[in-house]
Amino acid sequence: MSATGSSARSLRLIPGSSRASAKLSLRGVSKTYRQESGELVQAIDDVSLDVEPGEFVCLIGPTGSGKSTLLNLVAGLDRPDRGEVLMDGHRIEHPGPDRAVLFQEPALFPWMSVRANVEFALELSGVSKAERREQAMHWLSKVHLADFPNAQPHEISPGMRQRAALARALACQPDVLLADEPFGALDAQSREILQHELQTVWLETRNTFVFVTHNVREAVFLADRVVLMSARPGTLVAEHRISSPRPRAFEDVLLAKVVVDIHDHLLKEVDRTVSAESNAQPDLA
Ligand SMILES: Nc1ncnc2c1ncn2[C@@H]1O[C@H](COP(=O)(O)OP(=O)(O)O)[C@@H](O)[C@H]1O
Ligand SMILES: [Mg+2]
Repeated sequence: MSATGSSARSLRLIPGSSRASAKLSLRGVSKTYRQESGELVQAIDDVSLDVEPGEFVCLIGPTGSGKSTLLNLVAGLDRPDRGEVLMDGHRIEHPGPDRAVLFQEPALFPWMSVRANVEFALELSGVSKAERREQAMHWLSKVHLADFPNAQPHEISPGMRQRAALARALACQPDVLLADEPFGALDAQSREILQHELQTVWLETRNTFVFVTHNVREAVFLADRVVLMSARPGTLVAEHRISSPRPRAFEDVLLAKVVVDIHDHLLKEVDRTVSAESNAQPDLA
């Protein structure tokens, strides 16, 4: 760590061991899919990763490197073929209210107002009717939507819809937040605003967070640790610890330096994907 605490450790290979204190543990996890053509595609291979309680981990990697696969396994939406996925030492078998998931397209009910969407999630979490409205407004104000509780999802911008989805996820006070490129469909400006807001909210809630992105700048801005996945089949090739104090600013030159390092590494992985795909072309012809 530098004197300012803002530099990152150099990239290093991740050991496959697992710590007892981990909130989430993946141990030797592999997943293969059978495509409609019948072809088998190994999405991830022998992935081992521990996420500490309250840690913000960003997963980056080229398209097709198994980021969504890994996240879906932690969400309990899918099962590994080999290895195990644990939360607090217990095997994850299915989705649960202890893990909220944010997707690129916010999955709001279109016929409900923004507030009703949050209230509905609170109802499912067992919050009494008397308390639901106040709690929903509390979380909406955290994401700067307090002035739009009665808006229908189609009446607000894509960035505001994603904020509403974040308020709904936070309202259930999950142990773990999982996000799969949640800002991927937003314009650059909205994306930056949301990144700042997410940083602010996370500093208050300190949820354990696994956040998938292929935007290196976003990963470095948000994460305690950036984990890089290889081209398919996805394995974990390196990690970068980001020790810069929060709140962070995009102008932080030390963060910019880490972005360049990770970007170079990611480009090598993308090159590997491209050459692997072009080598596979004759088989597809
Ligand atoms: N449900 C599925 N059925 C078949 N193949 C899949 C399925 N999900 C993912 N894959 C394949 O697994 C690989 C990894 O996909 P994915 O996890 O979506 O990668 P990423 O999110 O990094 O882009 C890709 O080749 C993809 O086509
Ligand atoms: Mg994906």
